[in-house]
Amino acid sequence: MTVHFIGAGPGAADLLTLRGRDLIAACPVCLYAGSLIPEAVLDHCPPGARIVNTAPLSLDEIEAEIARAHAAGQDVARLHSGDLSVWSAMGEQIRRLRARGIPFDVTPGVPAFAAAAAALEAELTLPGVAQSLVLTRTSGRASAMPEGETLDAFAATGATLAIHLSVHVLDEVIAELLPRYGADCPAAIVWRASWPDQRILRATLGTLAEATGGERGRTALILVGGALDPADFDESRLYAGDYDRRFRPVGADPRFPEGTQ
Ligand SMILES: C[S@@+](CC[C@H](N)C(=O)[O-])C[C@H]1O[C@@H](n2cnc3c(N)ncnc32)[C@H](O)[C@@H]1O
Repeated sequence: MTVHFIGAGPGAADLLTLRGRDLIAACPVCLYAGSLIPEAVLDHCPPGARIVNTAPLSLDEIEAEIARAHAAGQDVARLHSGDLSVWSAMGEQIRRLRARGIPFDVTPGVPAFAAAAAALEAELTLPGVAQSLVLTRTSGRASAMPEGETLDAFAATGATLAIHLSVHVLDEVIAELLPRYGADCPAAIVWRASWPDQRILRATLGTLAEATGGERGRTALILVGGALDPADFDESRLYAGDYDRRFRPVGADPRFPEGTQ
């Protein structure tokens, strides 16, 4: 018996990995975090599967579901939205599984920031503009931010920011970022990236709040940084015609002559 933690993707049912789909289809028990998992992903469950929405359950109740499946020798597909490496609550579940000696594995998923970047048709690490992406959030009722992980500290780097779980405090986010990025810095909000009702708003940091027309919603990403402006950036040296590299030796004395790979 194994608990398969599966990243179920950002919303569109076909943004699930093939491995994730096949594991769901093979498990007689499916526990899913209801608020952000599309119903169509659950269609992969086998007939007669026990399918439980864990949104209203406590961690103790979720553990009890897994323990029951373990006692019955039934594999569990444990679905969380996006990828499991960020804001999935997988860590606390794994700690309990380890304590009980219950085997598990982890299958990654498409994270929301990647779906939002795709919706914006944006590369978030443009040469000469930004080479780092900060995935962050603001303090919430369930999780306070560790000291030092402030928006101002991240903004000081000039990196592209993908701010989760924060659209309801958009005005505070903007106020904290304005001194570092300036009012002309490109910014965007993507609500429900990849869902049928996806919505995109492009603006600048200075105009973003007004451009929402007061709409906040819940499931949205705020993206801020120069990389969101696709007009002005350097080309990568990687594909420059005179750039000598292992897979494309150039010149009379290439660094990696053919046949030395
Ligand atoms: C609890 S976190 C889950 C993050 C998820 N594990 C991931 O890999 O993206 C939920 C937050 O992620 C963002 N989010 C999740 N799905 C989204 C989507 N389809 N479009 C925009 N933002 C999304 C929102 O900021 C939302 O408040």
